[in-house]
Amino acid sequence: MHQDNESVLSRKSERPKTKILVDGGDPEETLRMKNLVGFVDGQTTNPSLIAKNPDIIKLVASGNKLSEQQENDEYKKIVQRIAPLVGDAGVSIEVFSDLDTSAEHMLRQGEEMYGWIPNAYIKYPCTSEGLRAAHLSVARGIRVNITLCFSQAQAAAVYAATKGTQTPVYVSPFIGRLDGIGQNGMDLIKSIKRMFAKGDGHVLILAASIRSLEHLLCCFFLGTELATVPTKILEQWAAKKFPMPGPDFVYRSSGIPIGYEDIDLEQPWENFAIEHELTRTGIQKFVADYQATLGRPG
Ligand code: E4P
Repeated sequence: MHQDNESVLSRKSERPKTKILVDGGDPEETLRMKNLVGFVDGQTTNPSLIAKNPDIIKLVASGNKLSEQQENDEYKKIVQRIAPLVGDAGVSIEVFSDLDTSAEHMLRQGEEMYGWIPNAYIKYPCTSEGLRAAHLSVARGIRVNITLCFSQAQAAAVYAATKGTQTPVYVSPFIGRLDGIGQNGMDLIKSIKRMFAKGDGHVLILAASIRSLEHLLCCFFLGTELATVPTKILEQWAAKKFPMPGPDFVYRSSGIPIGYEDIDLEQPWENFAIEHELTRTGIQKFVADYQATLGRPG
């Protein structure tokens, strides 16, 4: 144990510039990662991860059918336990939304969730209603994280919809799910970073859907501002004594390259073509997992 602590402490001076968030829904896991790595900058949660929380699993397994209010209360308890464990990258809390949820409904949830903890980021899906909710949220001083981003146009729309905000906005491009459809998800991170270099810096890239240590190392190499990482990958990183990519780092992908698009960031956000099939299916999966916590079929 003593030796572990020493290795963690020595790593503190060598923390990656990329902030590390835990991608999960269990405060015990967050604490374990904090002890393992020596720090945790933040946390992201989503309905699927909350459905895997051990207390929620127990409640559902014991035949409890949670009401929406009870589910909300459980979610609140979970993030309230996580909030004090993490640094300044905060805790992302996701609103419930299906394909028909209006911006106003999302905003009402966001306003409530934002009051749960002092370091909240409210997650909205990268749809036109989600972006409208984000637009209204930042005007009210609510920090936001736009999730389920699968294209450069979606990231550009996040930029345009939140322009003028004083607080940092996160956009979460999903690397692993793009890999999952045979593309090179890491290319999207590269392209968004290149596109945002022309902007005012108010949107930060939070690399999400990280499925391998190579994904994480490539995020460090590219200098994404944040990366949300499942415990399994953090454990792999720790087991290898926290390697960092050197200047000659090469990321290998068998996926189809995603080319860079020259997009003008200074258009009204409604102008961008933001539809993406993976955003739709991602919302549907979150709805199904949320319904499962209510003891109902998805
Ligand atoms: C985090 O904000 C995302 O919801 C998460 O990284 C998604 O990861 P997955 O594609 O492995 O579900």
